[in-house]
Amino acid sequence: MLLEALRLRDFRNLQHVMLTPNPRFNVIAGPNGQGKTNLLEAIYLLSAVKSFRPGTTNRALIHFERTEASLEARVERGGHERLVRLEISERGKKVFLNEGQVRNISDFFGTLNVVIFGPDDIGILRGSPSERRRFMDRAIFNAHPAFSTESTHYEDVLKHRNALLKEPRVDPALLGVYDEQLITYGAQVLRRRLDFITHFRPVLTRTFSTIFDPSLAADLRYAPSWLDEGDDAFDEAAALQAPQYLERSLEQALRRTEREERERGYTLIGPHRDDLHTTLGGHDVRTFGSQGQTRAFVLAMKIAEITYLEERYHFAPILLLDDVSSELDRQRNRLLFDFLRSRTQGQVFITTTHRDFILLDQNLSIFDVQGGQVVERVSDDA
Ligand SMILES: Nc1ncnc2c1ncn2[C@@H]1O[C@H](COP(=O)(O)OP(=O)(O)OP(=O)(O)O)[C@@H](O)[C@H]1O
Ligand SMILES: [Mg+2]
Repeated sequence: MLLEALRLRDFRNLQHVMLTPNPRFNVIAGPNGQGKTNLLEAIYLLSAVKSFRPGTTNRALIHFERTEASLEARVERGGHERLVRLEISERGKKVFLNEGQVRNISDFFGTLNVVIFGPDDIGILRGSPSERRRFMDRAIFNAHPAFSTESTHYEDVLKHRNALLKEPRVDPALLGVYDEQLITYGAQVLRRRLDFITHFRPVLTRTFSTIFDPSLAADLRYAPSWLDEGDDAFDEAAALQAPQYLERSLEQALRRTEREERERGYTLIGPHRDDLHTTLGGHDVRTFGSQGQTRAFVLAMKIAEITYLEERYHFAPILLLDDVSSELDRQRNRLLFDFLRSRTQGQVFITTTHRDFILLDQNLSIFDVQGGQVVERVSDDA
């Protein structure tokens, strides 16, 4: 998967940008506040149609003094070239594929896949369970675009069920219908997640020990909200294999929490309340991990996501690394670049304020960003 050309107009402070990226490494260099992260955000938008900064309005994406922004890319995947265009106005976003407007957005997903790592991603470990679920669901979505429809089905039933639980008198027949749907769609979401986790775990462990610390085993487990309290550690692979196990567990959990649900007025168990439990050397990373270890863990999760997709589905998403080196010590920074260079393929975009952090000298293009202008550096002497 390659981003072959990129053109931006009036996207944030990037008013006129045209660039031809290197098929391997692209360094986006410049001082603070010049538009480096904005450039990565533009690439991300061309993949996901929404920003990686949650809650971003369309207005914020358009240059202060303009009313529309346009983002365009030529993308190669599996020998095919495609033209992707995104037009943003305050009213909404329009997506075009090879000049035709995309009506059903799920037809578009999968055209360009990216994985981004930036300073805020530490929230995947330090933040609430929803951030960890988001990581997992995005990774699944990268391989199975249909997953977004599946999880929307679940979210929709959940919304209806919660509204019903808030009513003074709950119609038991209607609740029964919602329960059934919640179990069916919930089990579907869980199957995807557990399948992902079983395959992802060994890749994460390997990635962390190769890049960051061979003496520490990084691991992660699915932590269901719907297990009975007496149950021991949850075994993802076994849960996947036992027929109807997930449906039965959800059903039993709904029954257990029925009274409390009515008191509180919302659904207390299900995939929307599950979590990921992350450990380093057997200890909870959230409680015991140092700042640097926690960052390294999250970065390992992102790199492992790419390796996982490469090994299992035979395509490599584009890796966007926002200001990664300023957060790592020298040794780990060196190991990270050793790893990136050792891959035989895969396009990478890396922003930096210091060219010296970037330990690359081959298969490399450097783009200097200054006040929203992006200029390719001709020789790497600066
Ligand atoms: N809608 C917009 N219109 C014009 N300028 C904008 C808009 N949104 C953000 N900016 C400007 O973009 C700049 C920030 O860009 P960006 O976050 O890409 O910086 P950066 O180069 O990554 O800096 P740092 O090294 O500090 O991370 C700010 O100057 C901000 O005012
Ligand atoms: Mg930035």
